[in-house]
Amino acid sequence: MEQIKILEQEFDADLKNVQDDKSLEDLRVAYLGKKGKITLAMGMIREIAPESRREFGQGINAIKNKVESTINELKEKLAVEKVARDIANEKAIDITLPTKATKGSLHPRTTLQKEIEDIFVSMGFSVEDGYEVETEYNNFDAVNVPKNHPARDMQDTFWLDNGQLLKTQTSAAQNRILRKYNGPLKAIFPGRCFRNEALDHSHENTFFQIEGMLVDKDVSVANLIYFMKKMLSEVFKTDINIRLRPGFFPFVEPGFEMDATCTFCGGKGCSTCKNSGWLELCPCGMIHPNVLKLADYDPEKYSGFAFGLGFDRLVMLKTGLDDIRHLNSGNIKVLNQFGVKA
Ligand code: DAH
Repeated sequence: MEQIKILEQEFDADLKNVQDDKSLEDLRVAYLGKKGKITLAMGMIREIAPESRREFGQGINAIKNKVESTINELKEKLAVEKVARDIANEKAIDITLPTKATKGSLHPRTTLQKEIEDIFVSMGFSVEDGYEVETEYNNFDAVNVPKNHPARDMQDTFWLDNGQLLKTQTSAAQNRILRKYNGPLKAIFPGRCFRNEALDHSHENTFFQIEGMLVDKDVSVANLIYFMKKMLSEVFKTDINIRLRPGFFPFVEPGFEMDATCTFCGGKGCSTCKNSGWLELCPCGMIHPNVLKLADYDPEKYSGFAFGLGFDRLVMLKTGLDDIRHLNSGNIKVLNQFGVKA
C-alpha cells in the first residue's frame, strides 16, 4: 500500500510537467502503457500475500481510474486551449494588408456593353441573346436578303459543312425575337459577328454589334431619332446631335446611316471625323414590311425601327484605341489602360 501511495505521488509530480499533447502522451505511456508503472503494479497482484490482495487490488484500481480520468480531462483541456490559441492567432492576420496579386479588370467592351444595356433597360428594353452559329435563313432570307440578292456580297461569310454559318450580323436574331414576342416589343441584342474580312485597323473577322428593335403601332422615324439620341448622349455623357442620311439595307425601308456630332471636337472638325464634324455611328431604319411578314406580323397593323450599332467602333471612340485588332488581341499592355475593376 505504501508503494501505491508513492506511485500516486509520483504521478502528481509528473503531471505538473505536462505542457502539451506530446508530454501528456509520454505520461500516459509511462503509467498506463504496456510497461507502464500502473500496468506493472497490476501484474504484481499475484505476488501479494492473499490477505492483502483485495486491499492492494482496490488501491491500484482507484489510482488507475484517477490516472485515466486525469489524463482524459487534461487532454480535453489542451484541445480547447489549442482552438482558443488558433483563433487568437487568426486574429493576428491582417486581412487588410495589401497583397501582391495583380488585379484584373473588365474588358473595355464588357464595360461599355453593360453601360449600354443599362441605358436601354432603363428605357424599357429587354436584352435578348442571339446565336453565333445560325441558319442561312435567319441570317439572310428572314431579313429580306433572298438567295442571289447582291446584298449578300457585302458580307463575306464563314460557311459550315452542314450548311449553317457563323452569323455575319446581329440582324440574324430579328426573326426569332419577332416571333418570340409576336406583338409589340422593345429589345436589344448584343452579339459577336463573323466575316471573312481582309484585316486592317478598322476591319476584324470577329467583331461585335448591338442590334435593337422597337415594334408597336404607329412607330415612326421620330421615335428612332429619340432613342438613338438619348442612348448616345448617355454613353458620351454630353448632349449629342444626330443626323440621318439615306442608306441602303434590305431589311429597312427607309434605311439610314446615322451620324453623331464628333465627340472629339464637338463638331468643329478634327482628324477623327475627317474634318466633317460628324461620326458615322449606326445604320438604322424602319423595319421593312417583308421582315415583319416573314415573322407573321401584319405590316398594316405594326411598324417598327431597327438599328445595328457597330459596337467595336463605339468602344474605340470611347477608349481612344486606334486599331480594332487591339480588342481581340488580349494584349495586356493595351488592356491594362482600362482599370475598371471586375
Ligand atoms: N446588319 C447590318 C450590318 O451588319 C447593320 C444594320 C443596318 C442593322 C440597319 C439594322 C439596320 O438593324 O436597321 O451591316
